[in-house]
Amino acid sequence: MLTVHSYRVAVIGAGYVGLTTAACLASLGHRVTCGEVDAAKVERLRRADVRILEPGLPELVAEGLAAGRLDFVVGAAAATADAEVVFLCVPTPMGEGGTADLTAVEAVLTEVRDHLPAGCVLVNKSTVPVGTAERTAALLGRDDVAVVSNPEFLREGSGVRDFLNPDRIVVGSRSRAAAERVSALYAGLGAPTVLTDAASAEMVKYAANCFLAMKLSYVNSLAELCERLGADIGDVTEGMGRDNRIGPSFLDPGPGWGGSCLPKDTNALMRVAEAAGFDFGILRSVIAANDRQADRVADKVAEAVGGSVAGVRIGLLGLTFKAGTNDLRDSPALAVAGVLHARGADLVGYDPGLLALDQPEAHDLLAAAGILTLVDDVLDVAKDAAALVVLTEWPEFRGLDWHRVADALAGRVVVDGRNHLDPDALAKAGIAWRGLGHRHAQQSLTAPA
Ligand code: UGA
Repeated sequence: MLTVHSYRVAVIGAGYVGLTTAACLASLGHRVTCGEVDAAKVERLRRADVRILEPGLPELVAEGLAAGRLDFVVGAAAATADAEVVFLCVPTPMGEGGTADLTAVEAVLTEVRDHLPAGCVLVNKSTVPVGTAERTAALLGRDDVAVVSNPEFLREGSGVRDFLNPDRIVVGSRSRAAAERVSALYAGLGAPTVLTDAASAEMVKYAANCFLAMKLSYVNSLAELCERLGADIGDVTEGMGRDNRIGPSFLDPGPGWGGSCLPKDTNALMRVAEAAGFDFGILRSVIAANDRQADRVADKVAEAVGGSVAGVRIGLLGLTFKAGTNDLRDSPALAVAGVLHARGADLVGYDPGLLALDQPEAHDLLAAAGILTLVDDVLDVAKDAAALVVLTEWPEFRGLDWHRVADALAGRVVVDGRNHLDPDALAKAGIAWRGLGHRHAQQSLTAPA
């Protein structure tokens, strides 16, 4: 898919968003130089060695390199030398008190300020507080460089697909010409484009992520209520989701919403609202409901093993924040593990995403947390466990040989924190299934299905 005009693009940051952006823009026919501060990573990427678990990304990186449309260099300034458009894709982690930490953005601006070619457009793709584009322009102090906000809506695990098949492109700037140049980069995708001012574009990103978090906190709360009332959350969300105004997606209950975006962005919008003197009560409740969810799942586990997990061996199926990634950042699974550990459980964990690649970072993170032993075989996680707990919805968990799992288990019960498994398949192997908000939530082997 080639665009009409090929732009010279610099992407600063080869993290998840930056690398996906760089590889996808190169696949659209642009000439992309990606600047990254980590020299070892640059070396690896030049060999198309991608350590992020993201379908299609290694292939796109390899294609871009082979076609000469994609290159990696060390540092930000080196990447921007002749760029017409410069994307900032550096992390904006949760800082003090929940505000977005803009240290990396500011460091890049300082580095590139005097190197940006006259007439280029600086695009912020990172999620930043409303007003950052204005601040960026002031920090930059360059009348000949326009600043644009172009938030990303990529989900981990489907980032390439999301980039190349967007629901919409949002571009905001004071300069119409700069906004149009940025939207022209995506011309080949044929997506609806919202052209607006920078503050509104920045707000769209927070508004969307916080709305998604709200949907999930609502569903998780609803699941708890269903359990108390003997209703079935699966049927309830199906009935709700078929209303076009609601839609069927993002209605699966779970151990809480996590990852590198939703927790960070909900907190950041809370702080932005506070600073603006607005009491965002709904959002506060959304966050509070999520903060309770790990305890709720841990309570279910305790109940399943007879009241207390102290000294009890529990096997955890899934540790990443969702299936299809190898990302442990703000993982709800680790939050549940933390609560179980604090209550004295002896934890063993298994996650297929942590086997797929050589990932010292993930293993270091788990070792540092010191709350569980990681094993690389699903039967080892079941061995002598009083219960298994599903915390990430990996598809392969549905196809497990439950008879073999049953033989390995000490206690034949699975707490399904994602309502992911087939209770009947477990029942056939003599394993009791306990889900969230399900009419089978308390299903025992003797209860009718
Ligand atoms: C999220 C947004 O979905 C993207 O649109 C956005 O671009 C991205 O943040 C970002 O700001 O960069 P992501 O963090 O990759 O994407 O993950 P999601 O797929 O949104 O999942 C977030 C959390 O919600 C996960 O813990 C997931 O397991 C949970 N979830 C999701 C549920 O518990 N139930 C669901 O039905 C859906």
